[in-house]
Amino acid sequence: MSEPTTASQPEEQPAADRGSNRSHRPASTAFKNFVMSQWAPRTELDLEPSPAAPYTAARRAALSERLPGKRLVVPAGSLKPRSNDTDYRFRPHSAFAHLTGLGTDQEPDAVLVLHPVEEGSGDGGSNHHAVLYVRPLAPRDNEEFYADARYGEFWVGARPSLADVESLTGIEARHVDELGDALAKDLGDGGVQLLVVSGADDAVEALVEELRLEAGLQDEEGLTDEALVEATSELRLVKDEYEIAQMREAVARTIEGFEAVVRALPRALGHRRGERVVETTFDGHARLEGNAVGYETIAASGEHATTLHWIRNDGKVRSGDVLLLDGGVEVDSLYTADITRSLPVDGEYTEVQRKIYQAVLDAADAAFAVARPGARFRDVHAAAMEVIAARLEEWGFLPDGVTAEQALSDEGQQHRRWMVHGTSHHLGLDVHDCAQARRELYLDGVLEPGMVFTIEPGLYFKADDLAVPEEFRGIGVRIEDDVLITEDGNENLSAALPRRPEDVEAWMASLRA
Ligand code: GLY
Ligand code: MN
Repeated sequence: MSEPTTASQPEEQPAADRGSNRSHRPASTAFKNFVMSQWAPRTELDLEPSPAAPYTAARRAALSERLPGKRLVVPAGSLKPRSNDTDYRFRPHSAFAHLTGLGTDQEPDAVLVLHPVEEGSGDGGSNHHAVLYVRPLAPRDNEEFYADARYGEFWVGARPSLADVESLTGIEARHVDELGDALAKDLGDGGVQLLVVSGADDAVEALVEELRLEAGLQDEEGLTDEALVEATSELRLVKDEYEIAQMREAVARTIEGFEAVVRALPRALGHRRGERVVETTFDGHARLEGNAVGYETIAASGEHATTLHWIRNDGKVRSGDVLLLDGGVEVDSLYTADITRSLPVDGEYTEVQRKIYQAVLDAADAAFAVARPGARFRDVHAAAMEVIAARLEEWGFLPDGVTAEQALSDEGQQHRRWMVHGTSHHLGLDVHDCAQARRELYLDGVLEPGMVFTIEPGLYFKADDLAVPEEFRGIGVRIEDDVLITEDGNENLSAALPRRPEDVEAWMASLRA
């Protein structure tokens, strides 16, 4: 399939037009009249309000509280070309999804704007009134209907009308053509200041920049777009009830994906690219039971497991390997899990594999033991590192004369040769969620009930690592769970997926029986 073009080709075809060489769209009046006629009335989609709607209203109110008097612009983003005129499947920007509750592929080019109003007189007593500017479904007498390969109903299906968007989100919806005028209103001369979430939509950012220039606002002191980006990221550090339910769902679907992979291991073992059997089994499950994967699946067998983000996944799965599978199902609301298990391909760990696995598990357990309200995010990593450094000292892998204690000091850190990544990251709409939060709230932040993050220590011994005995080489182990901070400690959301080596073995045996 390719984009429709007009039938008549000029003698001299400019290079810019040559992308349209592939197909012919009839241009006759007879065709146009006929294709736009004789359609039954559109049936209303009759969308129920999203269960997320009350929660997104509260999130918008929290943002409003933080940035009163500013016009806040949160784009969904636009379609991105994958190659020439074919686009990637659309995924809205996470700040937009968080504040509107829209998920899956909703809605390219939409923009949420929080318009400042007199303090306390906005939505739900907030300081803003929210409007969603969207590109609604075009009527059948509009050429878009049959001729627009990006937006037309013939090409991508019926999109929601403005009324549909309003019922779904509980937010007033307007045509995106009104966006420019709406953003320009009352700018300058001590009037409204515009802040836009950067990195989501170049065209909206350019529009905001142009409006600022016109209004003489470009040199104005005060808040920058970064303040909005930071606010939308920090707003997600503590998850609400709805988000936690979505995370539970994402974890449950992910665990099923791991089960499907274990069942597919015999096929992986017999395939020249066994890692792809693992990847496609997991990704197929994610697409069937959720929206997609939350990030590219890491299916790394044997030595590949020592490459932290091995996503090429084109290697063999060999008998005797440990297979590291790091995958997350993203559900339709776009919340994702992020879980890793390191599985013995034959169903049982060898002695040395078990030794490494147990060290990583002990590090994870130490991290779980300190993950509670009042602790700092960085304490979780520190607890895991103490165990990792102690095991490496015990095994004699640290350089001569270096103790675990010395390695743990800022000047040491030799143990990190075998685990260069961090132990934890926040998790939610983005796999690495809340990434624009300030350091004092993230790395140096204090844990609070409702926070969700990973605990994922690992040990990776490369095949050519001369600092470790030969039997350790070519083995990578990571154990990653998704953790919810509760009032009095934590809950391992992914606890239903076995972690202890003997439990992993029994679970694999039960699935392969
Ligand atoms: N699971 C991949 C990562 O956390 O980077
Ligand atoms: Mn992770």
